[in-house]
Amino acid sequence: MADTEERAEVDEAEIAAHWKEEEWIHPSESFVAQANMADEAVLERFAQDKFPESFREYADLLDWDEPWHTTLDSSNPPFWNWFVGGKLNASYNCVDRHLEKNRNKAAFIFVPEDEGEVDQVITYQDLYVRVNEFAALLQDFCGLKAGDRVTLHMPMTPELPVVMLACARIGVIHSQVFGGFSGTACGERIVDSESHVLITTDAYWRSGKLLDHKEKADEAVAKAAESGVVVDKVLVWRRYPGKVSAATPMVGGRDFYVDELMKDYKGRRVAPLSMSSDAPLFLMYTSGTTAKPKGCQHSTGGYLAYAAGTAKYYQDIHPEDVYWCMADIGWITGHSYIVYGPLANGATTVMYEGAPNWPDEGRFWNIVEKYKVSIFYTAPTAIRAFIKWGDDWPGQADLSSLRLLGTVGEPINPEAWMWYRKVIGAEKCPIVDTWWQTETGCIMLSPLPGVTTTKPGSCTMPLPGVVPDIVTKDGESLDDNLGGLLVLKQPWPSMLRTLYGDHDRFLETYFSEIPGSYFAGDGARRDEDGCYWIMGRVDDVLNVAGHRLSTMEIESALVSHPQVAEAAVVGFPHELKGEGICCFVTMTVQDQSEELKAELIAHVREQIGAIATPDKIRFAAAVPKTRSGKIMRRLLRDIAAGREEVGDTTTLEDYTVLASLRDDE
Ligand code: WT7
Repeated sequence: MADTEERAEVDEAEIAAHWKEEEWIHPSESFVAQANMADEAVLERFAQDKFPESFREYADLLDWDEPWHTTLDSSNPPFWNWFVGGKLNASYNCVDRHLEKNRNKAAFIFVPEDEGEVDQVITYQDLYVRVNEFAALLQDFCGLKAGDRVTLHMPMTPELPVVMLACARIGVIHSQVFGGFSGTACGERIVDSESHVLITTDAYWRSGKLLDHKEKADEAVAKAAESGVVVDKVLVWRRYPGKVSAATPMVGGRDFYVDELMKDYKGRRVAPLSMSSDAPLFLMYTSGTTAKPKGCQHSTGGYLAYAAGTAKYYQDIHPEDVYWCMADIGWITGHSYIVYGPLANGATTVMYEGAPNWPDEGRFWNIVEKYKVSIFYTAPTAIRAFIKWGDDWPGQADLSSLRLLGTVGEPINPEAWMWYRKVIGAEKCPIVDTWWQTETGCIMLSPLPGVTTTKPGSCTMPLPGVVPDIVTKDGESLDDNLGGLLVLKQPWPSMLRTLYGDHDRFLETYFSEIPGSYFAGDGARRDEDGCYWIMGRVDDVLNVAGHRLSTMEIESALVSHPQVAEAAVVGFPHELKGEGICCFVTMTVQDQSEELKAELIAHVREQIGAIATPDKIRFAAAVPKTRSGKIMRRLLRDIAAGREEVGDTTTLEDYTVLASLRDDE
């Protein structure tokens, strides 16, 4: 891990500014009166139950085929097992068990971006039928069985949760790759997870354009083949038959249209397979400090129990709610809080396909009004965009149905928090600022909406049973208000179990930095009231518009361009996205033209996806390194941010490098 020490330093002035901003906000009486957990006594009960028994409450929300006999097996840390001996099926818990009472209740309301297309309401009964039929196809046509991995590269379509739940039904481990990632990025994840089946879609809408998605599948399969992993079946869901297929022909014997295959599976039912609590449910790839993405492996029992419980208590889902998490299902947020958490609670969930400003900046608020959305979960980057677009857009819609607002993904600035509360929440909705990660699976730090007094900008307190601390790089606990590294000192049910196929990297990344604790990779401080303030990543991971990107993944994309000799990528503060991407590149050619910059930007987009689009490209004579050859990222960050002061440069190999970088602007 690079630079942890430097970046964990606290900026006292920044803290002082926070204090001035601070206002305490109590949950309103009307919210408290109806909250699922409004009673401090419940928290006390958790406290009395003591770790790990407190987590039983969450597991009790699920239907188990066989009850567990041990809440937590700690015999081989950090490979902890939760609800040991228990057996259950995630698809049964998210679908079948709701049929008796809620057969005709909407599970999903799918809103396509193109307003010319009709919205789709998928009831629990519809979902049951679709999940069963597709599970039969996975079993019979693809020959998949429990423990196999399958890669999904699907945009926001109603078929995506169907595929996930069909996999879960037969114990197949799904690995959904965010639809916006390139074919190449998808191919790398296919290789790592050793998937032989890829499930994709023909096309989707984004910002008014119908994008061909099938072509990415071809790239992905080709990329996987380079590493010797053969994808023998590509299943293509068609939303727009005939519109884009001409550009990307189907490969005979490999590519199949799902609608054509499904004719043979009409009316089929597949019994949900009883899975052991620790059986893997899915992989979710995330970026780390090397170019190779990490396949976080989540378990069936612990993950689902905690997803259900956190959605119920921390997002306060009630049977009558219309719940909308605006993340993409391709990220952990969508897995936990569009699919598994809400469905385990039998909720109605909105899924929106496209851009927040299409056809105009009022789109989100029209959806809230149209479906009377009551719970809305978004990211600070989106809130900052809403602020920029102006209060008139939300002002034109009736948002009175909203009763709880949430945020996740990055630190939220107090101004954005206050705007969210006032303009969207009419000062009556509690705001839950939820801190968690792909690895933690579910929410870890958050206000309990009917109980906790909130401070704008703080994710407040750990959930009961979650034990964070702020420590030095030597693992010593720090006093209140001192910035340090955020760690979790005890296991929790939805934690990642390992990195797929790489136990060593799992141990090294998360449990070796601060021995005995889970190292989150974030800097934070705790104030004297026990509230946590997240300060951002302390490793070489960027958080761009709430998306996690590895600087090294972008660097390796850059050096794969034939004219790039060396590259160093750092983040810099960005008004809307939180962090922007600045690339320092040394070239093998003299050319320093704007055209070449544009070409490099396009190259990174092609290699990784639009989310990794560099904001700045800077040509440099050489990348500054320490004597031991480490890229001087701190210096580059200072340069990228345009800060006057730079750190100690005495270890710089070549001062002229610094000088030339500075002159560049
Ligand atoms: C990183 C995890 C969890 C789903 C979305 C991102 C940052 C997350 C908050 C928050 C401040 C936050 C952290 C964390 N982060 N939530 N409420 N306040 N920072 O998942 O891609 O795994 O990224 O996002 O830096 O480590 P992810």
